Amino acid sequence: MEVIITGGQGFLGQELCRSLLQVDGLLDAHGKKLQVSKIILVDTTVPVSRLGVNADEKVQLESVDITSPTQCRALLGKVKSGHALSLFHLAGVMSGAAEKDFDLGLKVNLDGTRHLLDACRARTEGGAARPKFVFTSSLAVFGETYGEQGRAVGDTDKIVPKNTYGMTKAVCELLVNDYTRKGFLDGRTARLPTVIVRPGRPNAATTSCFSGVVREPLHGEDAVLPVARTLPHSVTSTRALISNLVILHDAEWPPTLADRSANLPCRPCTLQQLVDALYEVVPAEEHSKLGKIIDQEDAFLSRVVGSMGSNLSYERARELKMVPVPDLKTVIEEFLEDFGDKSVVSRKRRKTA
Ligand SMILES: NC(=O)c1ccc[n+]([C@@H]2O[C@H](COP(=O)([O-])OP(=O)(O)OC[C@H]3O[C@@H](n4cnc5c(N)ncnc54)[C@H](O)[C@@H]3O)[C@@H](O)[C@H]2O)c1
Repeated sequence: MEVIITGGQGFLGQELCRSLLQVDGLLDAHGKKLQVSKIILVDTTVPVSRLGVNADEKVQLESVDITSPTQCRALLGKVKSGHALSLFHLAGVMSGAAEKDFDLGLKVNLDGTRHLLDACRARTEGGAARPKFVFTSSLAVFGETYGEQGRAVGDTDKIVPKNTYGMTKAVCELLVNDYTRKGFLDGRTARLPTVIVRPGRPNAATTSCFSGVVREPLHGEDAVLPVARTLPHSVTSTRALISNLVILHDAEWPPTLADRSANLPCRPCTLQQLVDALYEVVPAEEHSKLGKIIDQEDAFLSRVVGSMGSNLSYERARELKMVPVPDLKTVIEEFLEDFGDKSVVSRKRRKTA
């Protein structure tokens, strides 16, 4: 089996690739376990030097702009029609960028997804086996849906996003359902909570501070919080998220169910709870090394994050036996193990295979 990961140089693309290089196979559309022989990592640009997962001999790097239908078709053409194919579609622009630039949000998140779906369709209609297509949506598809206080929002609740990012994801969820119903591909949609703790620099997601509040102090830098410390938000850990994307890929989907989406396991948390967990994880004698936390609320970001809600349920994920999200202390310890190279405090390291 060959795997394509779009957004392959992004945070989750790299982590998914790392995980797929270690699995003992993936299930194809007929439930048959196949070894992963190649992983094609796709992004707008490819890195000059092949470090980390990019350097693995099974990994092929491709520069593709998914806003080009021609480039999407050519990408699918790189996998021989006799080979099983799974495509994990992770490329996209994040919530802050899509809210500020409506046209860009539509072009990449909506048109780009459609071009990939159409390229899959053309491949199937050309005689290849239906590819599996795992789409990364977001809990931002619910917006107004969170309005009914006291009731958890579940897999089958109406999707009424309140930002452009969530709208593009919601439209793509419906496309994935219908391309599956038509037999063009075998699609599944993961509705992701915010994944913490993201390594690297802050990104264009409105929820970036839910990682920054932990990451920056651990790097000895100050963290600025543009969102109120008490605002609850749904999060998952990087390790749980990656495991659950693979479980969703392999899941046997009820054949009569037109909806191919599942809320992924998540837990509500506030920035203050993350601060508390950080100070518990770091030994007291090292607290002075941590960067400061500065409150500087931004009305735009608070409004967008506040429209995402936090009272979620995830029955389909439970039925599929997805991995639960660990407690916040464990989430921070995992970040230190996996990505803590720049940390100013002591830490354990990730076990490498
Ligand atoms: N990380 C999260 O907390 C989170 C939460 C909810 C949903 N998601 C979704 O998961 C997916 C992956 O998230 P991530 O955190 O890895 O994002 P990321 O920003 O780290 O990676 C996205 C990648 O997509 C690439 N990309 C953007 N436009 C492209 C184009 N036109 N053609 C090809 N590639 C393009 C970018 O270069 C980038 O490397 C996204 O679709 C995102 O919407 C992520």
